[in-house]
Amino acid sequence: MFNSTNYTKCWLNYKAIDAEKVRECFANVILMSADRVAITAAEEYCEHMGAMLDAKIEYSTDIEYEPAVCLQVEEDDDCDALTNQSFYIEKNEDSYAIVGKSGYALLQGVYAFLRMVYLGDLEKIDGQRYEFTPSMPLRIVNHWDDMDGSIERGYSGRSFFYDNYEMFYNDRVEYYAKLMASIGINAIVINNVNVHQNETYLITDRYLEIVRKYSDLFGKYGMKLFLSVNFAAPMELGNLEVSDPLDSDVCKWWEKAIAHVYEVIPEFGGFLVKADSEGRPGPFTYGRTHADGANMLARELKKYGGLVIWRCFVYNCGQDWRDTKTDRARAAYDHFMELDGTFDDNVILQIKNGPMDFQVREPVSPMFGGLKKTNMMLEVQIAQEYTGQQIDLCYLIPMWKEILEFDTFAEGEGSTVEKIVSGKAYGNKYCGMAGVINTGDDENWTGNELAAANLYGYGRLAMDPSLSAEDIAREWIRFSISKEDDIVDDVAKLLGGSWATYEKYNAPLGIGWMVTPHYHYGPDIDGYEYDRWGTYHRADLHGIGVDRTDSGTGYVNQYNEPWRNIYADRDRCPEELILFFHHLPYTYELKTGKTVIQYIYDTHFEGVEEVREMIGVWKNLEGRIDRRIYDNVLERFERQLNNAIEWRDRVNTYFYRKCGIDDAKNRKIFR
Ligand code: GCU
Repeated sequence: MFNSTNYTKCWLNYKAIDAEKVRECFANVILMSADRVAITAAEEYCEHMGAMLDAKIEYSTDIEYEPAVCLQVEEDDDCDALTNQSFYIEKNEDSYAIVGKSGYALLQGVYAFLRMVYLGDLEKIDGQRYEFTPSMPLRIVNHWDDMDGSIERGYSGRSFFYDNYEMFYNDRVEYYAKLMASIGINAIVINNVNVHQNETYLITDRYLEIVRKYSDLFGKYGMKLFLSVNFAAPMELGNLEVSDPLDSDVCKWWEKAIAHVYEVIPEFGGFLVKADSEGRPGPFTYGRTHADGANMLARELKKYGGLVIWRCFVYNCGQDWRDTKTDRARAAYDHFMELDGTFDDNVILQIKNGPMDFQVREPVSPMFGGLKKTNMMLEVQIAQEYTGQQIDLCYLIPMWKEILEFDTFAEGEGSTVEKIVSGKAYGNKYCGMAGVINTGDDENWTGNELAAANLYGYGRLAMDPSLSAEDIAREWIRFSISKEDDIVDDVAKLLGGSWATYEKYNAPLGIGWMVTPHYHYGPDIDGYEYDRWGTYHRADLHGIGVDRTDSGTGYVNQYNEPWRNIYADRDRCPEELILFFHHLPYTYELKTGKTVIQYIYDTHFEGVEEVREMIGVWKNLEGRIDRRIYDNVLERFERQLNNAIEWRDRVNTYFYRKCGIDDAKNRKIFR
């Protein structure tokens, strides 16, 4: 049975604030709306403000109090899916008004206000109206939880939704919803994209009642519930012979199934679909396109305001390693570009950040700069499958910021990924970010206590990509660990440098992989080299890297200019990606004058040293922070050090044995 009772408060750990920061109005909260989510906003206000004032406070619906904090909803008929998430906070004499365009917007306004009070930022908005509209219309988390209770790529225990094919409702699930709302999440997919036999039944009466309870809970916070569905459901549940999207019986089957879902759950959000990918069924079986598949579902969902989120993680996972022309990196673009403009307006394509699979370093997927007439959503992995599995510290916000800031040149300069996935580039209504979540039933939710910064940061970044990675880190630390300046500085430094450190001891220069097959933690340089997954480094005695230029797979041509030329030119290609795009001799000189082989040796030695330094910084915090947190992170750091050493020695030895070139600094490389 999973751990449903023992859990920390995570970042919602409001504590009493200094008396001089308290204002008279804080305890007088007036709710001027009967909206269900506005009521939640008032309750949230009372709970967290109560903790800050160390007093029990209750909201009133009576306007006579003064000074007060007034919570209001001002609906606006012209609002769309994004602008109805706008709120403002304003000070009038000694009172504050928090005004949202919807109950959800008000709730977000309340969380913003509480944050300002707790972090001592309230003065900043005195004398001016603080207005806010989230950047991404949709800010989704994807659970890869399976109904047997396991979590695919879960590194913090078991599912707190399911066990043994049952779905549970309890305090922990309730608290979870609150945590998600507090960082601005507005949609949750509760089951794995790989929909196995039992999960196929989530859209049937076997589970719909309990799914409705979840939907009601999420709805209380203004969040929508989505389900991952099995494209072959008409065959598995309806005994049809096919699941061909153009077959009229198949269409009728979905029509009925979807109508029933909405009968039970009128607020249902829609479907997430992984089709024709890694063994999952899909439209290709019937010679149909992904637009045929997605639109079939979209037509029915549209009747109820539902969405289809269709994943683009479609590639040939049965490749022959001898074949150097087929390139997995090309696959999404090759499959989906020709379909641009053919998807219904309630279909969103969910695109992984890179063309491969959440490696520590990848170029940004060319899909973002390619598609122009299709709703797009950026998928990132908060769960650290390839980035240390919540054992090693790897703060991912700097990576996601780089991706959002990447200029695709789709419509000339300034066409950043952020502009595209927030809908600003093409005026799309449905778009945003999806994050594969890193939670489980561990007491601290995320295994490594510091991994919660990635979850917190994901929500905050999707709301407001103008926040810096460092600001987000500092904010999270002050809620979760300590408000003392030197502690905040130290932990922020640890988080801030952790991705770069991880990259140093991992696979070099953008080549990726080199991980233990299946588990994806720890090094196995040739683990995937002769396998079917399309993930090769092509190292031989002369050099390493994949030629993705015209003389190789031609992948570079999927980018707009100037990227196409920059990536194709080994002298101009960003060095952190050079082996992703080029096969280079070990003796090739990088811009620093260092050879590729020397760069590999150096970074792997440095990576280990940096982990040692991180441990030193952490050890200085002993006695100054919560013991549970201190011990948890120290234990993880010790495992990280072993991992880094293993990576260093295996990578260095592997390449030394391939090329026979000595380390210029004569350090220990095992022969
Ligand atoms: C990765 C991951 C799988 C997952 C897949 C996906 O390949 O290892 O566990 O199912 O991505 O995103 O669909």
